[in-house]
This record gives sequence, C-alpha cells and structure tokens, in this order.
Amino acid sequence: MDGDRKPELQIKPGRYEDAALGFRNHWYPALLSSEIGEEQLVPLTLLGENLLFKRIDGQVYAIADQCLHRGFKFSTKPECFTKNTITCWLHAFTYNFRNGELVAIPSAPDSRLIGKRHLHSYPVQEINGMVFAFVGDMDPPPPLAHDVPPGFLDPGWTVVGAVNVPSACNWRLAADSGFDPNHIFIHKDDHFLAALDRPFPIANRIVGGDTFHEITEVTGPGPKGLVDALGKSEPVFEFEFECDGERGRMASKIPPNEMAYLAYGSIEGSIWLPGALKVAPWPILGMVHYEWYVPVDEKNHRYFIAWGKPCETDADKAAFAHEVHTKWKYLGYEQFNRTDLIANLGVETGTDGLPYRSVENLFEGDGYTLVWRRLASQHNRGVQTRRGIPTA
Ligand code: FE2
Repeated sequence: MDGDRKPELQIKPGRYEDAALGFRNHWYPALLSSEIGEEQLVPLTLLGENLLFKRIDGQVYAIADQCLHRGFKFSTKPECFTKNTITCWLHAFTYNFRNGELVAIPSAPDSRLIGKRHLHSYPVQEINGMVFAFVGDMDPPPPLAHDVPPGFLDPGWTVVGAVNVPSACNWRLAADSGFDPNHIFIHKDDHFLAALDRPFPIANRIVGGDTFHEITEVTGPGPKGLVDALGKSEPVFEFEFECDGERGRMASKIPPNEMAYLAYGSIEGSIWLPGALKVAPWPILGMVHYEWYVPVDEKNHRYFIAWGKPCETDADKAAFAHEVHTKWKYLGYEQFNRTDLIANLGVETGTDGLPYRSVENLFEGDGYTLVWRRLASQHNRGVQTRRGIPTA
C-alpha cells in the first residue's frame, strides 16, 4: 500500500449557519502588502488555523505555525538560520519555508523523516497591494479569480488594498449586514456624507412587497454571488411616525434633490463567496469599493477594504494610490465604513453566547439576507470545522 497517497478530496458545500469558522477551500485576504517586509515573519490566525507568513526575495510564503514534532508554535520564538528556513526553537527541527519540507534535525542528521515530512504549506498570491492565502486542501487550488469579486483583477483597473482591521465579531454578522440594504440607517450621521454634501437614504423600501426576488444570482464558473436590485426599490430619505400622540422624524442630514434618487438607484452592491462585497460606484462616481470579512475564529474576523479606478499611465496609478491613502482611507473608512464595525459589534454583544440566528425575528425587508445565506450554503467548497484543521 502506498502510505503517501492521500484519500480522494471531497468538495461538498455546507450550511452557512454551520460556518462559524468560514468556508474551507477558498482564497482570503491575509495581509496588506505593506504589512510584510522582506524577511519579516508575520503570524496570523485564519479560519481558526495558525499560519506563519514570510517574505523571501520579494515573494510571500505561508506555512502552518506548528512544528510537526511536538506541535510547538514557531512564532513563539522564531529562529531563522538561513533566509529560506524556519527552525523550531524547541528541538531545532528545520524546515524549508517555501514548501514546508523538513530539511534538518541536528540531533538526528540522518533521520528518515528528513525530506519526507512536510508542514502544511499554504498557497499565497499577492496582487493589488494585498496578500491572499488559500486555506484548504485542494492541490492545485482553484484560481484566485474565482474567489474575488468580478473586476478586482481587471488589468485596466488600478486597485489599492488600503484597510485591514480586526473586528471582534463573527464574520457572518458583517457579511449579513454588508449586503442588507436597510443597514444604511446607521450611516446617516457619518461625516463622509456631510463632507461630500451628499443626501443619503435612511432606508430602502420594498416596492411591490418582494423586490428581493429580483436579486441576480451569479453561480459561476467564476465568482459566485448576488447582485442587488436597489434600482428597483425606493430609497427613503425621511420618515415620520407617531406614538402616543407624539411625532418622531428621522431623515438624511442633507435633504434629497432629484439627483439623489437617481444616484442612489445607480449604485450596485454585490456579495461574493467566500465573503466579499463590491459596491460600484463608490465612494464617488468612477470608483469601486471592495471589502472582505475574513474569519479569524468564531468570535473575530478581519475587515479589508480596497478601492479601484481605471488608470492608464504609471503617473495616474501612483496618483490614485496616493489619493486612496491620504483621502479615502480617512473619508471612506474612518468616516463611513467604521460605522459598520460598530454596528456589527453591537449585534455580537447583544447576542453574546447565543447561537447564530437564535434571537432573530425576520421581517419583509430581510430577503437580501436570506438569499445570501442560501447562495452561500449552496456554492461554498466546504465548511471549516475545528475537527478539519490539518496539522500536517
Ligand atoms: Fe454600511
């Protein structure tokens, strides 16, 4: 019997509600390129797995952050005696960082394990100022292009990864909310809207009772996701209600003009597996906003943003990158999308210790969330579980 042969890999989608640790066998953003310098080691947890990243001669590699011998976590006290290797601090097992191969053991230089055993080595691709890692077992992995929103890799566009921040809630709360058009109520006080003098709706009213049936499903062979039908619903810029004879009013800080209705209707939001949102145009005409919700563990995820725009010359590209870092990171993230993180934390703390969805009472406007959960359940490449995390 061939002991090295691995059992046939079965790719079977699992339920979104079971995916507290995310979906296995997908590409995820791990870092911004600027966060890992030459020969720098960066430990990270993704989908409950501990990874260790290193940039060697410009290229980023990732291995399991756990020695095969006794399970020591390399990043506790990392030792590198050559550029291409990592040595376990405990018994000096030494591995090739670029493929995970065990290459040397000082106390048993002729060990039969040398050259035969490997740490799990994660496929890595760096593009648009972001480092993506494939967390899964498929070898070779599917193309990165299948796991990013359409257009992200379009060569005519310059896309700049700019935000990578931790958020202390499960990734699904962020994904559910990102594609839910009615969460826009939280943005009414954001300085981004005031700075751009932009009227923005406080709600998105269903027309005809079931606008969400017009959401477009995209099921591959490339990226799999949903495109919203906001152009077919009615943006609400102000709303009045009455309770016990007292009137209440909620409204956009900037009163709407006719253009505001048109402008809002032309914004297209879409959500993609394994957990990325695309909004176009956003934050202004001619730009596209991408964001990811990357599972860290059951109670944490990382939130990434990249912005894109078509650029022709190197000077245009450099100017756009500068604009992203000096303007949109502040106006777009600090003064707008950071509000989403606050909202998600409120849901996490409100439901602390309770199973996902257990306290929900859905209403007519929740079609977007339901359709997303269904698509995600049908088209992922497997649910990540604590049991499934490989050690070798
Ligand atoms: Fe939002």
